[in-house]
Amino acid sequence: MIVPGSESQALGAALAAETGDSLAEVSYERFPDGERMASVGAPESVGRAVVVAATTTDAAHVELLQLQDAVREAGADEVVTVLPYMGYGRQERAFEPGQPVSARAVARAVSTGTDRVVLVDPHEASVTDFFDVPCDVVRAASRLAAPLPSALTDPLFLSPDAGAIGLAESVRDAYGRGAVDYFEKVRHSGTEVEITPSDAGVEGRDVVVVDDIVATGSTMSESIAVLNDREAAGVYVTCVHPLFARSARAKLERAGVEGIYATDTIERDVTAVSVAPAVADVL
Ligand code: R5P
Repeated sequence: MIVPGSESQALGAALAAETGDSLAEVSYERFPDGERMASVGAPESVGRAVVVAATTTDAAHVELLQLQDAVREAGADEVVTVLPYMGYGRQERAFEPGQPVSARAVARAVSTGTDRVVLVDPHEASVTDFFDVPCDVVRAASRLAAPLPSALTDPLFLSPDAGAIGLAESVRDAYGRGAVDYFEKVRHSGTEVEITPSDAGVEGRDVVVVDDIVATGSTMSESIAVLNDREAAGVYVTCVHPLFARSARAKLERAGVEGIYATDTIERDVTAVSVAPAVADVL
């Protein structure tokens, strides 16, 4: 049985179609005091329950814990938790004295309600160590090639920092042609980044900027602006996790993006491809 969180309903349905498991009847209610109540309709037999929930908000975290508990109450033999996007995953260490390792705190809480965890492209692979149960990682970047226009001109697949170059290579390899390069990025604050371009010639070429997450859109909008200044033919953005917080979408449009493509680890209007087949492979 596939049990989707409220933020992952389309992915849950895609996963049910992919695996042949049933899609649970789920409801997401709130009490007058604001507390949540996510529940599953009383199934006759559960067997394995796969809870799929992108924890993009604090509320989604609570909902996930409730759904894990609900399927145990319903008699599930095994609970698998799929975090298509792991909220707090970028806080994988204490950056200042006195700060929590938030990814660890969240991972411990998630571990209490499950036998196994599956993460899709965590920002830092090291977060898998924070779970107290077995944790598998699914790499989905290669799926981002499919929705790209097929006739890109002399394409360059570019990561906005050295950390994402492996993603850019995966998308290029799946696309089948093109070069790979990366920019240097320095982050000054949550919303301010400084991009230092490489020497790669981009004039007249289509450039696909590849990253794991678009959050505030600062990284991508700076990259798009640099590339448009250098007369790229078209600048496309692709990412695994389209968080698109605050005004991220408008920032990218204002910077002159040609197209935006993402997976369904977070369900947004830029979602163009599903990670369901890749997740189904490890279930
Ligand atoms: C950071 O290293 C990540 O790979 C992304 O570049 C970052 O999360 C994007 O954040 P934002 O959209 O806020 O610039």
